[in-house]
Amino acid sequence: MVTSPKLTSREEGAIESECRIALVGFGTVGRSVARILTSRANSSLKLTHVFNRNVDRKRVEWVPSEVRWTQDFDDVLKSDADVLLELVGGLEPAEQWVRRALESGKSVVTANKQLIARRGPELLKLARENRQHLLYGASVAGGIPVLLGLQEGLGGDRILRISGILNGTCNYILSQIENVKISFAEALEQAQAKGFAEANASEDIDGFDARAKLTILARTALGAELEPEQVSTRSIREVEEIDFAYAHDLGCTIRQISQAELKADTLFAGVQPALVSQSSALARVTGSQNVVVSAGEFGGETVFSGHGAGGDPTAVAVVSDLLWLARNRRNGAAEAAPTSKKSVSGDFKTAHYVRFKVADKPGILAALANVFSRHEINVDAVLQRAGHSKSALPFVITLEHCRVEKLRAALGEIRALDFHVAPPFDMPILD
Ligand SMILES: NC(=O)c1ccc[n+]([C@@H]2O[C@H](COP(=O)([O-])OP(=O)(O)OC[C@H]3O[C@@H](n4cnc5c(N)ncnc54)[C@H](OP(=O)(O)O)[C@@H]3O)[C@@H](O)[C@H]2O)c1
Repeated sequence: MVTSPKLTSREEGAIESECRIALVGFGTVGRSVARILTSRANSSLKLTHVFNRNVDRKRVEWVPSEVRWTQDFDDVLKSDADVLLELVGGLEPAEQWVRRALESGKSVVTANKQLIARRGPELLKLARENRQHLLYGASVAGGIPVLLGLQEGLGGDRILRISGILNGTCNYILSQIENVKISFAEALEQAQAKGFAEANASEDIDGFDARAKLTILARTALGAELEPEQVSTRSIREVEEIDFAYAHDLGCTIRQISQAELKADTLFAGVQPALVSQSSALARVTGSQNVVVSAGEFGGETVFSGHGAGGDPTAVAVVSDLLWLARNRRNGAAEAAPTSKKSVSGDFKTAHYVRFKVADKPGILAALANVFSRHEINVDAVLQRAGHSKSALPFVITLEHCRVEKLRAALGEIRALDFHVAPPFDMPILD
């Protein structure tokens, strides 16, 4: 993981020394971490402080009595804790607390993807300047050791591409539309009722959560310098039940896919709903499970999958980072992993699925074929299922590989034609 630098010969002989931990944020993940830390006998990891606002309502009897509960952050800063464990989430005040901890000579472990996606490089620099470590193995794909696996386990390869399912809420909603045959709105309502989605679910369904994780993955696996805003993002809101019917006819299903690919000096990066083959690793992931597939120049494909969220799986990743620190924190700051600036583009070259909904009349296919042909886009197939009303007839055209921007230009013209009852909806069909 970017976060856990390669062992030097000096570190190889490292042994675990006692590591004192101040836990900041006693919520879903914080409680699970405290449970693991307090149940490990003879561990080098020692919980010394629990910080939370209005801390009295957080106290639990199973935390040992010597642990200090506080709602004053200065208690944590001035303490002899070696590590600040940030599990509050969000940008502020988390960023200020992490900065102050590093500046005061404490290492930091966090699961905060938004903080690392937005401020990761500068916080890592601050950690190095203060000869401390900043570890964030739980910030992507919860309990799956994907950052560590990419940086350490696959460190000998040159990773060219990563794709994955990084948001369990989207996966749940899409699976419900597919299996229970309900609308997007109904599936979202169910996800919210079951506590899988926030009241404001935009962060998940519009792709911003996955974009933050993809940013961290692309820095780690592809060594690319990029900001979350550079990743093109499309919502899953427009996916309908009929799209699954047509996707199945094509041997595919639909998932929210995050992908990043390095080609020469360009990083192609995007988060969007896409068709994936039903036989692919991406199609087999259900519920809150996450998957990341990496493609290396020498080693080919590697698949990481498991629980992408939840207090306990995420806590395992956090405790693994703490154990790494217990072994290595005395060995000085990590060297920066090499990264380089790339131009970032969402203009992938793929095959495409385009679903139309039209008031049927003669000449529609000819009109569409004419526009695609003028834009030098080859039509692959036309799919039309029986049994739909002619006044809102859904049918699909699949297109051979072409750049997204070329498709956008053609669809711009197509939208102006007079037979649509809903705007055309397109998705890439991944190889
Ligand atoms: N939950 C997961 O499955 C999961 C998976 C991967 C990564 N993560 C990451 O892990 C981190 C923690 O997530 P979580 O699910 O444990 O969140 P959570 O349940 O909301 O817990 C956050 C805790 O921090 C406290 N807190 C928030 N703002 C505070 C403030 N300004 N001052 C003092 N205390 C404050 C909250 O106190 P109150 O009770 O008063 O609100 C709560 O106890 C986040 O960065 C999240 O993205 C979570």
